[in-house]
Amino acid sequence: MRRSVMLSCGSYLPEKFLTNNDLAKLVDTTDEWITQRTGIRKRHMAGEGEKTSDMATRAAEKALKAAGLNGSDIDAIFLATTTPDQTFPATAVTVQDNIGMGDRGFAFDIQAVCSGFIYALSTADNFIKSGQINRALVIGAEHFTRLLDWDDRTTCVLFGDGAGAVVLEASDAGKGDKTDRGILTTHLHSEGAKRDLLYVDGGPSSTRSVGHVRMNGKEVFRNAVTRMSEAIVEAMEASGVSPADVNWLVPHQANRRIIDATAEKLNLSPEKVVVTVQDHGNTSAASIPLALATAVEDGRIRRGDLILMEAMGGGLTWGAALARW
Ligand code: ACO
Repeated sequence: MRRSVMLSCGSYLPEKFLTNNDLAKLVDTTDEWITQRTGIRKRHMAGEGEKTSDMATRAAEKALKAAGLNGSDIDAIFLATTTPDQTFPATAVTVQDNIGMGDRGFAFDIQAVCSGFIYALSTADNFIKSGQINRALVIGAEHFTRLLDWDDRTTCVLFGDGAGAVVLEASDAGKGDKTDRGILTTHLHSEGAKRDLLYVDGGPSSTRSVGHVRMNGKEVFRNAVTRMSEAIVEAMEASGVSPADVNWLVPHQANRRIIDATAEKLNLSPEKVVVTVQDHGNTSAASIPLALATAVEDGRIRRGDLILMEAMGGGLTWGAALARW
């Protein structure tokens, strides 16, 4: 059975970071409040001239190097971002140029906010499974701090910048069951009726501006635990996998309490959960590949491990993916 094998991953974080105490100098907040309510201790922030495409390119180059490949080996780029360099062209085509793909293949952006990486992974997987492409770069990259209202303490303490990338390659080596290496299943959902729970109050066709993040935190929290748990169960059932089979949960890193509540609801032991929110904050579409790269680089995730990824974001959008690394 043709599957998309995850060959490698790479990540990039800007040099500059802000601690909770740094934020306490900007808005009426405290390290104690942020740590207790979210688990976040610091978040990275892109430099003045540093664009989403720059961060995406750095992460992609690391992933390519780890796979022993060049840009010219890639057939397509699927870049999940909410914070493109420009309204158009897609940030993905800048990355295509930066990594030396020339006019090979194609590249486009995917917009599903914090669920963007799961959406991009699922899209790439389907292109590979259908036989249209053999190798893909799936990237999540965000310059999210550019969307923040630095006078709004309820949102500006939560988010950060960064990028992560994964190289996928077609393989026919598997038996067609849950023991196969590669992506076993992906599940995507959205509910547009809840788009006002989390949104940006600007855009080309409404205000002709970029806008700022607005959020109903309590409702988003409630929906996040419910929807991500549902998507996880759906992915496990579709693959005949039980919580005991899962080696690592690599969740979207929005809030430590959301991560803990989701894992507890599904009886996944805390030792199996990759948590990076304390160091990265919520990096939206970049958060899962950043967490994945962290756990691969520090040796926690090993070849053959079964990893479960899940996310929820503005839209509302949510989804899950199950893969054997
Ligand atoms: N510092 C200090 N006090 C604050 C801050 C802050 N940064 N932000 C809010 N407060 C205050 C509020 O004003 C409120 O004060 P009041 O009681 O005097 O009115 C009090 O703290 C409690 O506010 P709540 O909003 O009730 O706090 P809550 O416990 O719900 O926590 C939080 C807020 C952390 C935003 C939580 O709702 C949450 O995590 N929601 C999920 C949001 C999220 O993760 N969004 C990311 C995008 S979606 C996703 O990625 C899944």
